[in-house]
Amino acid sequence: MTSKNPEKIRKMFDSIAARYDFINGIISFGTHKYGKKQAINDLPDIVPDAKILDLCTGTGDLAYFLKSRGRVTGVDFSEKMLVRARLKVPEAEFIQCDCTNLPFEDETFDLVTMGFGLRNIENANLAIDEVIRVLKPDGIFMHLDFSKTNPAGDFIFDMFVPFLVHVFYNNTVPYEYLVKSKQEYFNPQELVDKFQTRGLKYVTQNFYALNMMCATVMKR
Ligand SMILES: C[S@@+](CC[C@H](N)C(=O)[O-])C[C@H]1O[C@@H](n2cnc3c(N)ncnc32)[C@H](O)[C@@H]1O
Repeated sequence: MTSKNPEKIRKMFDSIAARYDFINGIISFGTHKYGKKQAINDLPDIVPDAKILDLCTGTGDLAYFLKSRGRVTGVDFSEKMLVRARLKVPEAEFIQCDCTNLPFEDETFDLVTMGFGLRNIENANLAIDEVIRVLKPDGIFMHLDFSKTNPAGDFIFDMFVPFLVHVFYNNTVPYEYLVKSKQEYFNPQELVDKFQTRGLKYVTQNFYALNMMCATVMKR
């Protein structure tokens, strides 16, 4: 199992922050933006002017698409990723903190999202329990990540990512970690089981970007 030591993960994301968006565009052939946008568009209706929390917000891609749905707060423990997020989404508030120990009162948010984040967290259960704690009753949680349901796509992705990163960027270690952590991660059904075990209720699952990405929508 790949090490998810929080300090190691934080430093790794700090080290790739400046090139994160550029490399994401290359390794997904531009499809990651489309998948993220669609996942937000497909969310169930929430109250107008909703309070929204984007966990592991990174450079703020999801926060950008969420801003039309309410007041967005993004959190991440990599300050260098947050510097980019603040430039991309000046309308949102961004706070540096660990998703396993959120600085918010119980039952604060109508919607919590997390894109490509939980996979990197050593104690995933703690992060899920924090999601449940800060969600209002009936609040929505949307988890987005690789789906592992397109074997041909996964094969090509796993083969070409290290190669593409090598061509466009000199730091391949984080992207070798990306491939490994993807392979070791939960499949969509395992995720639903995990969220249900912690106490969330199933709403729906949607697939994007040639089924490479899966949005799992749950309710408190
Ligand atoms: C792969 S990036 C995803 C960024 C963004 N959500 C996206 O979809 O592009 C994962 C992010 O999670 C953050 N992260 C990982 N573990 C974290 C934790 N325990 N607390 C806060 N942020 C964390 C990293 O710093 C990184 O910015």
